Amino acid sequence: MDCMAKIVNLPKIFDKRGNLSFIEGRNHLPFEIRRTYWIYDVPGGEVRGGHAYRENEEFVVALSGSFDVVLHNGVQQRRFSLNRSYYGLYIPKMTWRTLENFSTNALALVLSSTVYDPEDYIRTFDEFIAEMHG
Ligand code: TYD
Repeated sequence: MDCMAKIVNLPKIFDKRGNLSFIEGRNHLPFEIRRTYWIYDVPGGEVRGGHAYRENEEFVVALSGSFDVVLHNGVQQRRFSLNRSYYGLYIPKMTWRTLENFSTNALALVLSSTVYDPEDYIRTFDEFIAEMHG
């Protein structure tokens, strides 16, 4: 199991009728897809996320527009700018993550390894650091 956050390039089928990309769970992601959700209509300046998951892994794609995903692994912070629909960001479990700097009409697709479980959330950065290092 790959446990580093990383950009994953997806297949691109160029076509003069319009381009096509796809994601296959086992082929492109290091987890089985159990849930899909998307974030849209984000007002300018708003920030989503601001939590970590104990078990859930994610893959985030900017299907439209652009936004930044800011990750902290307990040691260092990294910012990834997503602005094309033919690549995405893999986010391992136990990663503090926020989504910010959304453009107008940004559409964030999120594929998840678990179904929604509020108990899986770590909701404060202090608790995240404590769980990481404790
Ligand atoms: P949350 O994950 O807290 O979003 P963000 O961190 O971007 O603010 O989810 C916001 C609300 O949506 C919260 O009430 C839980 C609900 N929700 C679901 O019911 N199912 C889901 O799959 C997700 C991601 C959220």
